[in-house]
Amino acid sequence: MEQLMEIRNLRKSFGDKEVVKGINFQVMSGEILCILGPNGAGKSTTIHLMTAALRKDGGEIRYKGQPIGDNLRRYKRSLGIVPQDIALYEELSAEANIRFFVSLYGLSGEKRNRAVDEALAFTGLEDRRKDKVKTFSGGMKRRLNIACAIAHRPEIIIMDEPTVGIDPQSRNHILRSIQELRKNGMSVIYTTHYMEEVEVISDRIIILDHGVILAEGTKESLKEAIANERRYRIEVEENGGVSDKDFFAIEGVRNVKTDGNTIEITSLKGVENLDRIISLLSDNGERIVNITSESASLEMVFLKLTGRKLRD
Ligand SMILES: Nc1ncnc2c1ncn2[C@@H]1O[C@H](COP(=O)(O)OP(=O)(O)OP(=O)(O)O)[C@@H](O)[C@H]1O
Ligand SMILES: [Mg+2]
Repeated sequence: MEQLMEIRNLRKSFGDKEVVKGINFQVMSGEILCILGPNGAGKSTTIHLMTAALRKDGGEIRYKGQPIGDNLRRYKRSLGIVPQDIALYEELSAEANIRFFVSLYGLSGEKRNRAVDEALAFTGLEDRRKDKVKTFSGGMKRRLNIACAIAHRPEIIIMDEPTVGIDPQSRNHILRSIQELRKNGMSVIYTTHYMEEVEVISDRIIILDHGVILAEGTKESLKEAIANERRYRIEVEENGGVSDKDFFAIEGVRNVKTDGNTIEITSLKGVENLDRIISLLSDNGERIVNITSESASLEMVFLKLTGRKLRD
């Protein structure tokens, strides 16, 4: 794959708070790059810097080898931006909204009409094209937001958490259409805090937290680092009997995390210690209600890197 964008030592502060701390990454052509991170990680700020909506404090953003500032108009035309907050005209119809955004990119006449039709078809909104946006569901607005961003056929689509708070049907539709965009040769930069989405669509993943990239790679390569670990989730009736220290005393135990009545224990694979964990609990009067076991997930990668869960 060819390199399309390069981000070097990118920095941004708000007041005296640095929220993007000198990050480096690349965007390859025709890939889906997921930026995964919890609330406040700096995802939207990074996106705003990349789209030149915000001014960077330091570093470089290159598109096809050139700093984006060298030909900002051309660069912006090659972008399709789906913002985190829906940006639509509620009083206008779906097609009028798309027509408006396409016009911003300089398309007119027959070309513009075709772009509008294609974007409506692509997002499954053809039968609602004449309806005002204010009559749309949240999921439909999200889809229309995407239609407005892709109608001019950009080279790079940048989507900032486009599936937050929508129904499963719209979410699936969006995830499928993103994969379709890649098939058509577009690059997609996709921010999210949903692990499940990253599992499904990502070619490459950047894990961002507190303005720093903690890890980068394919989901397979990220999971490699924890391939020798297993996680037990043990639900007890009333937690309190056993201290973390006692679990750590069991061979193979690497991490213990308690959340209410659920105890999560990360342990080395190949060390058959579940019976000892169970004995420890029952010897201390705990009643076990449920046990599940899981090996190498992105959630575990994240936990290992940050010491906390994504949805804490
Ligand atoms: N305009 C601003 N002025 C001051 N602080 C800001 C501004 N925009 C963002 N921040 C702060 O910068 C940090 C990163 O915010 P950002 O919106 O980039 O995070 P995010 O990863 O997109 O989070 P979320 O998942 O909630 O959208 C946060 O601490 C936020 O409060
Ligand atoms: Mg954000």
